[in-house]
Amino acid sequence: MSNVIAIVKSEELVELGALMVDLPQNADGLKVLITRFEGKVRAWINSCPHDGRPLCRDPAFLWEKRKKLLQCMNHQALFNAKTGICEEGPCKGKSLYGLITKEKNNQIIVSKGEPKNG
Ligand code: FES
Repeated sequence: MSNVIAIVKSEELVELGALMVDLPQNADGLKVLITRFEGKVRAWINSCPHDGRPLCRDPAFLWEKRKKLLQCMNHQALFNAKTGICEEGPCKGKSLYGLITKEKNNQIIVSKGEPKNG
């Protein structure tokens, strides 16, 4: 069984961009957010640790205004774009659920598993 969740072209994800893809085989209809910050690609389950609602419905609005942190649309929790840890808001100290990413040959591959932070 493959652990690959999604494969997207590198050019589809610009710096400070965000993409949303389906999380395969999940009954809850969860999505995956793929972000690029300081050149590095990261991926997160689109579920807020505050109460499990989606962080966003449109990835164009995932970044807060200064484009330094990720922001939940529900109660505006702010998450570190590198670690996924909530820095401000009702779930301060809790973390987004990250996934493994690899960028190679102009492709971004998102896989199941826990990423190394940073
Ligand atoms: S659901 Fe995200 S801050 Fe409340």
